[in-house]
Amino acid sequence: MTLLELKNLHVALEDGTEIVKGVNLAVGTNEVHAIMGPNGSGKSTLAYALMGHPAYEITEGEILLDGVDIVELGADERAQRGLFLAFQYPHAIPGVTVTSFLRSAINAVRKARNGGVDDPIPVPEFRKRVLGEMERLKVPRELAQRYLNDGFSGGEKKRVEILQMALLQPRIAVLDETDSGLDIDALKIVAGGVRELVGPELGALVITHYQRILNYIKPDFVHVFVGGRIVADGGPELAHRLEAEGYEAFLPVEVGGGS
Ligand SMILES: Nc1ncnc2c1ncn2[C@@H]1O[C@H](COP(=O)(O)OP(=O)(O)OP(=O)(O)O)[C@@H](O)[C@H]1O
Ligand SMILES: [Mg+2]
Repeated sequence: MTLLELKNLHVALEDGTEIVKGVNLAVGTNEVHAIMGPNGSGKSTLAYALMGHPAYEITEGEILLDGVDIVELGADERAQRGLFLAFQYPHAIPGVTVTSFLRSAINAVRKARNGGVDDPIPVPEFRKRVLGEMERLKVPRELAQRYLNDGFSGGEKKRVEILQMALLQPRIAVLDETDSGLDIDALKIVAGGVRELVGPELGALVITHYQRILNYIKPDFVHVFVGGRIVADGGPELAHRLEAEGYEAFLPVEVGGGS
């Protein structure tokens, strides 16, 4: 079943510069799609636009979640409908502990799923779930009481993002370079965590520069993203080819360049 479908999606910056130039993509449940592309090609812009970041304007096209166009919805409503984005550069929230952040996030989703009526998770259940997931994802216990991402190492931030994802149980997870900055053990844990969550209920869009994480998250489809567009599609073998050959074969041919 198709969970997320992008139809001719165009995204522009606030000054009108078009970054994403007509993306078509369908992600089904139980599918992992990888997006690979050069720096500055618009991958994060696509991810932000999917989440409803106000700085990125959708100028044309549709984002369908379960067949419903969500382009007009705010970021909170998209999250409540099951869209989750793990950021390339997670922000710190001084004054808010990891635990209280996670509890608020869970309760916001529960409220939405309960027809707008508060349905807070009982504290013992919350404790049990958080501790269980922290154990499974090897997130150090002491991080729970610290302010979210404040002074966290790069790898700690990424692990806490996956912790958040595991607790929120989204339907579509967009991971923007979740692998960058992770040591090898953390990469395996994070990738394993993602793979375990992907199933009949979840689809994932994994943005990455390196084939390595794909050894652990095994994508079903790989898309090459250049200049704001998907320029090639394939299976896992395409990621190996990119790792070996780079993007040159996919770059636009320069016309009239002299030499
Ligand atoms: N808020 C913004 N203000 C100005 N320019 C922006 C903004 N967001 C993105 N851009 C520009 O849009 C282009 C695409 O950026 P984007 O972050 O989407 O690339 P990317 O494919 O994620 O690159 P990387 O692989 O380096 O993460 C870049 O030229 C970037 O400078
Ligand atoms: Mg990026």
